[in-house]
Amino acid sequence: MTASKVSIERAQALLQAGGLVAFPTETVYGLGVRADDEASVSRLYRVKGRPSRNPLIIHIHDKAQAEALAVWTPLAARLAETFWQGPLTLVLQRKADTKAIVDNACGGLGTVALRMPSHPQAQALLRGCSFVVAAPSANRSSHLSTTDARDVERELGDSIDGVVDGGTTPLGLESTIIDAQGSVPRVLRWGSLSPADLEGRVGGVAWEDACSSVSGGGVLQASGMMARHYAPRTRMRLNAMSFDDNEAVLLYGKRCPAGGRVRLNLSAQGDLKEAAANFYRMLHELDKTGCDSIAVMPIVNEGLGVALNDRLQRGSWRGKLGGHRNVDG
Ligand code: TXA
Ligand code: MG
Repeated sequence: MTASKVSIERAQALLQAGGLVAFPTETVYGLGVRADDEASVSRLYRVKGRPSRNPLIIHIHDKAQAEALAVWTPLAARLAETFWQGPLTLVLQRKADTKAIVDNACGGLGTVALRMPSHPQAQALLRGCSFVVAAPSANRSSHLSTTDARDVERELGDSIDGVVDGGTTPLGLESTIIDAQGSVPRVLRWGSLSPADLEGRVGGVAWEDACSSVSGGGVLQASGMMARHYAPRTRMRLNAMSFDDNEAVLLYGKRCPAGGRVRLNLSAQGDLKEAAANFYRMLHELDKTGCDSIAVMPIVNEGLGVALNDRLQRGSWRGKLGGHRNVDG
């Protein structure tokens, strides 16, 4: 059984009634829920298998909505002015006096993550809701994010109430998350906004890279910081330059070694933007082949490559627990 495809109007009605509806954003598909309803938010955590301490991103459609929910800083105003609508999520202090977001949507934290997507269907959906919408990525916790409706259905099936089919999401990689509570931007997760985007467009601001290493541990600030996350079901092998006969292979660039059973190239031109757009879709496809493992060629670690390598490392991390078990649910 799969979730039925629904119109934006139907999606709004389903959300209003407390349902869970997936919808496209410019980064990846989100799984929406009304943020003011504790029972619906709890159901979303259950369906995703997400640890309750891992907060959701609140999706908004205009600045006034954002200002009502969080305590704004000059840094946040500058970042929002530069990058909204778009793939930037801001972490700010949550206003305590609002009932628009229940505590369990924020993992019990005093902060809130805000994102204003640019995707026209996401915008239309959010604009028509009389409540605030929380939306994590539309996948089971620690799995690969989804970039088309088919992969959403494969991930979540009929455990959700509907999906707005917006085709393939254009950027293909999650938003970049920045803690903007102070005067220095602290990057909690690299995503579709690259270090070069930040440097180029908010010149003169030194940012702090707070994305922790894959070794795990430490205080949770973003699930993107969890050691195992963004993982296919099939074992992944990174920086591969030769491939076994029964391997699924994720290539990058013009000069690719021969071998492997199934081969997909993220970008034959070595274009990181194209690679980011293809990333999750191709990993989902390789994951379905039944091959013994997925071998991934090296990807240059600059620009969007920083976020891609981060996802690959977390997706292949087996740590002490080993096997295919999820470390973080
Ligand atoms: O592009 C995206 O960001 C997509 C689309 C659907 O908007 N959403 C997404 O959501 O990637 P999710 O739930 O997969 O990742 C949200 C991340 C998690 O790592 C969570 O820990 C972090 O945001 N987060 C949420 N609230 C936070 C907060 N108050 N402080 C720090 N991190 C927070
Ligand atoms: Mg996610």
